[in-house]
Amino acid sequence: MTAQILDGKRIGAQIRDEVAAGVELLRARGLRPPGLAAVLVGENPASRVYVASKVKACAEAGVFSEKIEMPQSSTTAEVLARVEALNRREDIDGILVQLPLPPQVDEGAVLSLIDPAKDVDGFHPVNVGRLVLGQPAFEPCTPAGIMQMLRRSGVRLQGKRAVVVGRSHIVGKPMALLLLREHATVTICHSRTQDLPGVCREADVLVAAIGKATLITHEFIRPGAVVVDVGMNRITNPEEAARAFGGDEARIRQVREKGSTLVGDVLPTAMWELASLYTPVPGGVGPLTIAMLLSNTLKSAKIRLGA
Ligand code: GUN
Repeated sequence: MTAQILDGKRIGAQIRDEVAAGVELLRARGLRPPGLAAVLVGENPASRVYVASKVKACAEAGVFSEKIEMPQSSTTAEVLARVEALNRREDIDGILVQLPLPPQVDEGAVLSLIDPAKDVDGFHPVNVGRLVLGQPAFEPCTPAGIMQMLRRSGVRLQGKRAVVVGRSHIVGKPMALLLLREHATVTICHSRTQDLPGVCREADVLVAAIGKATLITHEFIRPGAVVVDVGMNRITNPEEAARAFGGDEARIRQVREKGSTLVGDVLPTAMWELASLYTPVPGGVGPLTIAMLLSNTLKSAKIRLGA
């Protein structure tokens, strides 16, 4: 089986271009651009990188953005006060609070205070409930991006077996709901699933979002399956890289020269050898998350502006 790549980079760029065109249409009608506020609490290095990428992507699409940085020691009350102020801002259509929050901050309280009409991450209980009920809602960006990628790549879901590994609020659960909405037969697996390889092998479409480097190996993948790898794990050991990437010398060199390389939840050689279509890491799912954040922000702005 020669596996083909599901090109998240290309599809993400396409969606971003569509958003930029939508923003231009608002401008042409004399309306203000969409506005996104990104709240970053604390010093998590990965979160800082993600928020910086989101702000940069906004600028490239003509979306106004504001980064609100708060110290690691912030209290729940302080974060709630910031969210409340953003809820009241006319020029802000989308509010994202980057997760994870420091442990002393009550994540549930913060996410529940975001105005559901500005909840471009789709994490507010009202949007989660709407998604469950099949009502119009802001959909969480990573699973929404995966659905766009599958649709734009011609993957048919109706009647197919889809297996989602991971039950997070951000990816696993909403992913399962979106696949179900497209009439797939959906199974959610997690760390306590019995015979995980056997369940995964039933999948026509396998989505791995469990956060464990190369957990999904050959015995998990049905030949010809579509494999979507949401994992973003850093490996630092050249032997581990050699095992994961087989003969891909460039990756092994990257570990030697830069100290690490990114690998997903799926063993790359297993995807290459068994899948019909698969997402590479990096360049698969990652670029779609930001593209969908922009898309949700434009959608919110259009609703709020009556455009
Ligand atoms: N942390 C990891 N993924 C996400 C995301 O999509 N949105 C937010 N706000 N935080 C995250």
